[in-house]
Amino acid sequence: MKPIEMNDIVNLAKNRWFVYAWSEIYGWLANSWDYGPYGARMKENIKNLWIKEFVQKKDDMMLLDSAILMNPQVWVASGHVWGFSDPLIDDKNTNERFRADKLLEDLINNLWDNANILIEKYGVTNLIPESWSVEKQKEVMVWEKVKNPNNWKEWNWTDIKKFNLMFKTFQWVTDDSSATIFMRPETAQWIFVNFQNIVRTSRRKIPFWVAQVWKAFRNEITPGNFIFRTREFEQMEIEYFCEPGKDLETHAEWKENCRIFLIETLWLKEESLRFRDHDKDELSHYSNATTDVEFKFPFGWWELRGIADRTDFDLKAHMRESKVDLSYFDPVNNRKFIPYVIEPSVWLTRLFLATLVDAYTIEWDWEDTRTYLKLDPKIAPITVWILPVVKKISDIAKPIFKQLSEDFVCEYDDVGSVGKRYARFDEIGTPFCITIDSENYDAWNVTIRYRDTMEQELVEISKLNEFIRGKLK
Ligand code: GAP
Repeated sequence: MKPIEMNDIVNLAKNRWFVYAWSEIYGWLANSWDYGPYGARMKENIKNLWIKEFVQKKDDMMLLDSAILMNPQVWVASGHVWGFSDPLIDDKNTNERFRADKLLEDLINNLWDNANILIEKYGVTNLIPESWSVEKQKEVMVWEKVKNPNNWKEWNWTDIKKFNLMFKTFQWVTDDSSATIFMRPETAQWIFVNFQNIVRTSRRKIPFWVAQVWKAFRNEITPGNFIFRTREFEQMEIEYFCEPGKDLETHAEWKENCRIFLIETLWLKEESLRFRDHDKDELSHYSNATTDVEFKFPFGWWELRGIADRTDFDLKAHMRESKVDLSYFDPVNNRKFIPYVIEPSVWLTRLFLATLVDAYTIEWDWEDTRTYLKLDPKIAPITVWILPVVKKISDIAKPIFKQLSEDFVCEYDDVGSVGKRYARFDEIGTPFCITIDSENYDAWNVTIRYRDTMEQELVEISKLNEFIRGKLK
């Protein structure tokens, strides 16, 4: 069987109204994407399932919505102003820009088992270039003769600069540096900055969690791979506040929570996922434990989401900068402490892409192939498609659309052959089609057709909504 390629996913997403190139009539703004009617709905469904699992079903969880533009001191305290950067390198021959650590990752991947020789040769402790100094990255690039991946010509690299990923803008009617503010590169900081307000107004006792889903922005050096790495995206973050000392066991519990959500709710395949714990020398200076959940995309294994034990680093940093006490008073044990934080963080758009990849199914039989999206019916953009076999019976089919759309997201389609219509609805991942013909209608029945098996059965019109509701449970 031919492996699924990224082009298959991109073509389906574009042709079936899931994702469009942004500003296309003006020649596109590179790596920005719009979500069409089906993509927008599918993204919303994933977000709502995440909110249902992690907010609605928990009695110690709050969902918040914070401002995109925050006081710039927030980003000084969090370390983003000085430290949130990627290593930028230019090819002087072509003026193209690259992320040095990504070029080195490609080098390591191409060396396969021989990559270990780099450890001794260059005195590094691991094969994770992101954790090496920029001087070390440049040294390895020069001595290993890393070439421009776009033309494979000899290298002519500049020195590596640290490029800050935060988008800047200005507030007030001036554009000098005193008016500079940043578009948030993550949603997490707002939760730390408001920790005191949250404790006071919610009267929650530790452990409790705070969740946020909304936009964040990063001026990525090399966005790409369709919607995998973009400059604007929706982030879904949870900050789980716990007692110091309980952080490692909570981190382990969160790994399991995330695994269950990805497999049971999003229907990602077990074999498409791997959980990679960071080694000691890969851990950020503030972290006690971090796990990357990696997904098998058609372009290789890449990070889907992260689960980090951030200790008390952020609350302490904001205490230092703001001079405001952000410690917590535990009324049960009569003691004051600065909570530790576990942070499961994920980008909605990356989950969306992973869900499309694992749902993309091709079936071959002797004379034909069938392509469909095997999505959980709760994620599918359209739950029920209503189709009269011929257009002229729309007077009996339209009332069925009206009846079903009271409870489900439906579409009505009476154009083209029934087979072609089924093929289109399958590619959009529609789990149920309701086909109406005069003969069955006269006996008060319609036919329901299932996407995955293509089986069909008769259902009484008066029981149709209840029947489909039962299938969605
Ligand atoms: N508050 C923590 C935080 O933002 P991160 O590791 O920078 O952590 C979390 O990002 C997740 O977001 C990562 O696991 C990664 O999968 C995803 N992500 C990061 N940058 C992205 C981008 N430019 N486009 C899409 N997803 C991205």
